[in-house]
Amino acid sequence: MPLSKITVELTNAPKNKPDNDKLGFGKYFTDHMFILDYDAGKGWHDPRIVPYQPIALDPAAKVFHYGQTVFEGMKAYKTPENSILLFRPYKNLQRLNRSSARLSIPHIDEGLVIEALKQLILVDKDWIPDEQGTSLYIRPFVISTQPTLGVQPSEQYKFMIILSPVGSYYAEGINPVNIFVESEYVRAVTGGIGNAKTGGNYAAGLKAQQEATEKGYSQVLWLDGVHRKYIEEVGSMNVFFKVGDKVITPALNGSILDGVTRDSVIRLLKHWKIEVEERTISIDELVDAYRGGQLKEAFGTGTAAVISPIGELNWQGDKLTLNGGKTGELSARVYEFMTGLQRGLIEDPFGWIE
Ligand code: COI
Repeated sequence: MPLSKITVELTNAPKNKPDNDKLGFGKYFTDHMFILDYDAGKGWHDPRIVPYQPIALDPAAKVFHYGQTVFEGMKAYKTPENSILLFRPYKNLQRLNRSSARLSIPHIDEGLVIEALKQLILVDKDWIPDEQGTSLYIRPFVISTQPTLGVQPSEQYKFMIILSPVGSYYAEGINPVNIFVESEYVRAVTGGIGNAKTGGNYAAGLKAQQEATEKGYSQVLWLDGVHRKYIEEVGSMNVFFKVGDKVITPALNGSILDGVTRDSVIRLLKHWKIEVEERTISIDELVDAYRGGQLKEAFGTGTAAVISPIGELNWQGDKLTLNGGKTGELSARVYEFMTGLQRGLIEDPFGWIE
């Protein structure tokens, strides 16, 4: 896909841009999108930037029936000097290909996608919000489009990138969210698709999330699907706990998503000389640490919210209030650093900003 081959069709009906205080998450989309088609035999072809619009798909397209699809989430930021920054984009696109491999979707050249992404962002650069807490969320995704109902890998796909100016993911922003520890439903099991970023994992989580919301909780803490005992993720985010002076997070075991923010936070904490352990963590260990006064803070990490502190964990009716229900010192420090780095306000010691 040589770059010169990306055709660009600009909209002749640009939309009004939303006010920053109305953004929320994923409600508004920019004026353009990127599309690339795949056909067996031909490979990926016809890269194009076109006006943002609905796409027509055959009702038999495999994605509607068998969920053969993957996606990514990343963000672009505008600096006070008006340059555009991306945060570890290759890491996301490498994961897109790992997810695709798990879902039997063909590999896409990461370098070429980055170039397409950069062109698309340039076309829609006026949509990048620049206020603290805002960014341009980037949603690359692949759907299987072959219109046949046999359960086989599709022979046709579309890869697309859409862009959405966003504020905070949770209405609470960086304020703590209350979390219900889920003991009935599970999100994923090792050997399944839990470590792939694919729609099925998110669909599997909706019921638990809905029931947690009805009980007054923002999200659930997922336990493993076999023993119903070991911590996996929080909502759609990875999870970290500050116990005593060290930080612990579940090790990647095949059912946990290999988060880019997770990896960045681990490296950042180590850079700060804070001890981090990636290992199996049981809910009993957490409750014991809480009772012993050692469970100081907990927070989720993800591209959308960056850092989301946990104010309370409800474990079978017991309410574990963390750090008095307030944002902990470490959560705030990590949030300030990550968002400052992403917005180009802090020097990047890791080479993560492009
Ligand atoms: C994230 O936290 O970055 C996510 O993956 C959430 C996203 C699916 C909205």
